[in-house]
Formats: sequence, structure tokens, C-alpha cells
Amino acid sequence: MNTTGNTILITGATSGIGYAFAAEFHNRGNRVIAVGRRCDRLDAMKREFPGMATEVCDIADAAQRVDLAARVISTYPELNVVINNAGIQLVTDLTKPVDLAAVMSEIETNLTAPIHLGSLLVPHLAGRAHAALINISSGLAFVPIAFMPVYCATKAALHSLTMSWRYQLRNTGVKVFEIAPPSTDTELGYQRRTDKKESHGGIPVAEFLAEAMEAIAGDELEAPIGQSKHLREKGAAMFPFMNK
Ligand SMILES: NC(=O)c1ccc[n+]([C@@H]2O[C@H](COP(=O)([O-])OP(=O)(O)OC[C@H]3O[C@@H](n4cnc5c(N)ncnc54)[C@H](OP(=O)(O)O)[C@@H]3O)[C@@H](O)[C@H]2O)c1
Repeated sequence: MNTTGNTILITGATSGIGYAFAAEFHNRGNRVIAVGRRCDRLDAMKREFPGMATEVCDIADAAQRVDLAARVISTYPELNVVINNAGIQLVTDLTKPVDLAAVMSEIETNLTAPIHLGSLLVPHLAGRAHAALINISSGLAFVPIAFMPVYCATKAALHSLTMSWRYQLRNTGVKVFEIAPPSTDTELGYQRRTDKKESHGGIPVAEFLAEAMEAIAGDELEAPIGQSKHLREKGAAMFPFMNK
């Protein structure tokens, strides 16, 4: 897809991968609408990137998703690209009764929200030139790490869903991408880290971004990035390695 001249809504734009996409697309001459819950960060982004638009939304709240979609369509009718990026990553111990609220929140944020928000915006995208829907899944969509089973299951589901979405939109001009990041050094999983200063590990965000932008510019609709390629190619054979 063209990586300039678009109007792009990015969820989870206040940190990590979403922030990197927001900065990169802004610098390439796109109108970016950055979405997140943390107003202080959104305000800082408006100062850092003059012309960037921001929207406060808890995407785990269905009513807020409906309001966001209506607001964005009326305020930015030129919207032609949506990046479903926001996500959370929790640890779930399946050997005992789960914290159901936590499980539901992870599924709502990582799976229900992209389905619902995407479906609210896709009819608008279908009427726009050079439209794209970009879902951010994970290498863990292909092989789970067992201590975060719900997270991995949401990403496997998002992978499956993106294939169906692409098929259903095949007769429209909307390109449907899946970008599957490898372990990337962001704030993801911050809540579960014992040492709050500890790095998440993984590749630098800049390295992820460079490869992801190349995939997007090259219309690589299903794009595992870095180590995610091995996980997609080898599938279940990688399970023992990932969980040793
Ligand atoms: N980092 C990795 O290793 C990795 C690997 C594979 C896939 N991914 C995927 O990449 C995406 C981005 O993750 P990241 O690594 O950049 O993590 P991150 O730094 O923790 O960023 C997550 C973003 O999601 C937003 N968010 C979370 N819950 C939200 C909610 N209820 N409503 C609105 N926004 C919400 C956060 O914004 P607010 O807190 O301001 O709302 C934040 O901007 C996720 O889907 C993640 O699963 C990451």
C-alpha cells in the first residue's frame, strides 16, 4: 500500500509498536489519528508531532468503540487505513480456577475490540481509495508460550480472523494485512514484570518497524516479522523450544 498521503487510525498508539507506527506514518506525510487511554501521552504526542490527531478510547469498552467509530468517521471522513494494534498480555495459570475478569479483559482487548471496531469502520474504508485494515497479531499466533495461554489464543484467533476478513473483503478495494511481530522491546506485559525496570527483551522497536514498513509498502498481506517467520514455518514443532 502507499505509505504516504493516508489518514490512519492507530489503536494503542501511546507506546511501543503503536507509537512507532504513529511516528513513522506521521513523518512520512500521513494524517495519523492516535488512540489510547493515557491522555498525558496523547497530549505529548500532539506536541511532538504537530498535526497529529488524538482520540481517547478504552477499546475494551464496546460503547466507547461505537462512539470512537462514529466520531472518527464524522471528523475524519478521509480515513482510509485502520491499524488494530492495542493489546495486553497477561499470565494465566490454567491449573486452578482462573480470574475470569482478567481473562475476559484480555479477550475483549485483543480479540473482540479489533473485530468490533474493525467491523464498524470497514464499511467506511470500502468506500475509500487505497484502503487498508492492518491487524497486529504475534508470532505467538503460530506457537503458544504456555504460561500466557489466553494471550496466545487471542493472537491465534486474530490470525484466523484476518484470513476470513481478507476473504470477505476480496471484492472490495480494502487490503487486509496481518503483521505478526516477534518479541519486541516495548512495555507489553509490564504489569506482570517483577522488576519494573526490566526490559521486555526482544528486538528493538526500530528493527521491528523497518521490516514491518517494508512488508506494508510491499503489500505482503501476511507478514511475520523476524523470528515470527520460523514460528509460522515450523508451527507446533517449535513448541518444546518455546517452552523449555
Ligand atoms: N512487544 C512484543 O513483543 C509483541 C510481540 C508480538 C505482538 N505484539 C503486539 O503488538 C501490539 C502492541 O503491543 P506493544 O508491544 O507495543 O505493547 P505496549 O507498549 O504495552 O503498548 C500497548 C498499547 O495498547 C494500548 N492499550 C492497551 N489496552 C487498551 C485499551 N483497553 N484501550 C485502549 N488502548 C489500550 C496501550 O495504550 P493505553 O495504555 O494508553 O491505553 C498501549 O498504547 C499488541 O497487540 C501486542 O500483542 C507485541
